[in-house]
Amino acid sequence: MKGTAIALEDELGDVLEKAMQQAGITLEALAQRSGVASGKILDAIDYRPDLSSDELRRMAGVLQLNEVGLCALGTGNYPLPSIGALPFCVWPLAMPHGIGVANAFLVGECGSSRAILFDTGAGIEALDAVWPAEIRQLDAVFLTHVEAEHAGGLCEVVARYGVKQAYFPAGTSARCGQPIGEGATLRFERLEVTAYATPGHAAAHNSYLVRAPRAVTGTGLLVSGDLVFAGSAGGAHFSPCQLQTNIRRMLSAVPPATVIAPGHGPLTTVENELRYNPFAA
Ligand SMILES: [Fe+2]
Repeated sequence: MKGTAIALEDELGDVLEKAMQQAGITLEALAQRSGVASGKILDAIDYRPDLSSDELRRMAGVLQLNEVGLCALGTGNYPLPSIGALPFCVWPLAMPHGIGVANAFLVGECGSSRAILFDTGAGIEALDAVWPAEIRQLDAVFLTHVEAEHAGGLCEVVARYGVKQAYFPAGTSARCGQPIGEGATLRFERLEVTAYATPGHAAAHNSYLVRAPRAVTGTGLLVSGDLVFAGSAGGAHFSPCQLQTNIRRMLSAVPPATVIAPGHGPLTTVENELRYNPFAA
């Protein structure tokens, strides 16, 4: 694994805002049902949290969130796991986006100059700034969803590396690629990539599980896009219900040791998010 530590994508206030939106609950209704003063909830949303663990627990109950994870976010101590050995190399490409980062990921055999790219950042300049010099060939490109900060560099990457296989989620369209849907599995020598349709953040959104099926040890990598982050989830811009369903589905569909490579924020594991992620309650 090559990369540097980066901060969580979302703080307590972001999670509360997303959770209220997902649950269809107004701030006033949350205050009334949890018995927490609306001013204190507003302060938390404005990144000035002053909530007791009891207040956080009551809000977690109303919003149906994992209370342990929400309390951990409230104290700035959300736990992140150590990332175990993978049977291939992963290069997280963290590109500045707003006050956080948008991630793309290269996956390939360690020591090889070839790799597979997941998401393409906002454009080729952003990718170039974080591109590892040792990767000079791309076997394929997979997009999690067609949004500016994740798909902006697709055509330039395809042209530069002469990529023959470039894929975006079925149900949307993008220049320079073709659709791929639920259950499609592609092999690249020792590596295998399986697509899962995981709408919710967007109407067309894929997650990808990368495995080396013949490897004796090591786990898989779940490229989750804006489905699930360490300590949070993507905004439910398309469907809160489908986002929830797909978070639960993906966290139970793969082994707990699977490493999650999210579209924003740091790497995590399925086990860690099942235990703590507010939205995996
Ligand atoms: Fe995003």
